[in-house]
Amino acid sequence: MSLLAEKTANVATADGMLREEIGEIIAGLSASPKRIEPKYFYDQNGSELFDRICTLPEYYPTRTERSIMRDNMDEITRLVGPRAALIEFGAGSNIKARQLLRGLESPVAYVPVEISGEYLLEQANDLKAEFPSLSVKPVVADFTKPFDLPTHEDVPERNLVFFPGSTIGNFEVDEAESLLRVMKHEARIGGALLIGVDLVKDIERVTAAYNDQQGVTAAFNLNVLDHLNEGIGANFRRNLFRHKAVYDKEHNRIEMRLIATADHSVDLQKKAIDFAAGEHIVTEYSHKYTIDGFRSLAERAGWTPRHCWVDVDNLFSVHYLTSEA
Ligand code: AVI
Repeated sequence: MSLLAEKTANVATADGMLREEIGEIIAGLSASPKRIEPKYFYDQNGSELFDRICTLPEYYPTRTERSIMRDNMDEITRLVGPRAALIEFGAGSNIKARQLLRGLESPVAYVPVEISGEYLLEQANDLKAEFPSLSVKPVVADFTKPFDLPTHEDVPERNLVFFPGSTIGNFEVDEAESLLRVMKHEARIGGALLIGVDLVKDIERVTAAYNDQQGVTAAFNLNVLDHLNEGIGANFRRNLFRHKAVYDKEHNRIEMRLIATADHSVDLQKKAIDFAAGEHIVTEYSHKYTIDGFRSLAERAGWTPRHCWVDVDNLFSVHYLTSEA
């Protein structure tokens, strides 16, 4: 179920929350340039399209991160130590958590944290089948703000926050710093963070990853319009938009855009949003970091960088950081 549909279905809280979201969406589409937050990509169809993106030949991050983790699992296991509680921020398909749980020494608990409840519970149950002695306690929360962690009968040695996939890149730099602070708070003193971060690289390679030949990223981007149509009764016509991802060298980031192909107007909750031909909506930023750039950001948030692994082609990095004080 999509984020918006889930809110609509939850009658007790839907009204206030949905109204807040609608307010945010209208504000974004009234800004210049117009914006739609990337969280709206992920309805059922969007999540499936994202899974397909992860397997595309041009989209290097997923397979590169997986191979870095696989090749360095012994060292990761040694650094983390035994009996950790794995806290995954934004647990999507949990494939990566599974890989890590298989490698770690006697993990005690797995706590996936996600704003959308249904998928999270399904995934958590699946995991329980493979690791019967693991305390699996999903938390439904907006992980950009501090939340309460569950306790476990078998007390873990330390908390290991896990944030794979370079999702940190989808936050603006100041938001990323504040999210890293939340992670530090949840890791507690003595805890650690294992995080995947996409690296700055040649522009052609990165641009191709977001403008794939098969058009899956285009479908993923355009799907956000269908989601808003269904979720809040907008009337976007997707044939009046086209996808383009451009690289912004100044900010080291990909900007996902939906470009209007004709002058037209969209109704959204009785408000008309006007588009001029060629005007674009920014739907996502995907920041790329240098190793030192990411380390400085994490240090500003209170983390101590301990180790960083990269692939042979320097495409992607996995950082291990600790919370000392
Ligand atoms: C989820 N996130 C890390 C992806 C990225 O690469 O920024 C989302 C994505 N957008 C287009 N392709 C993939």
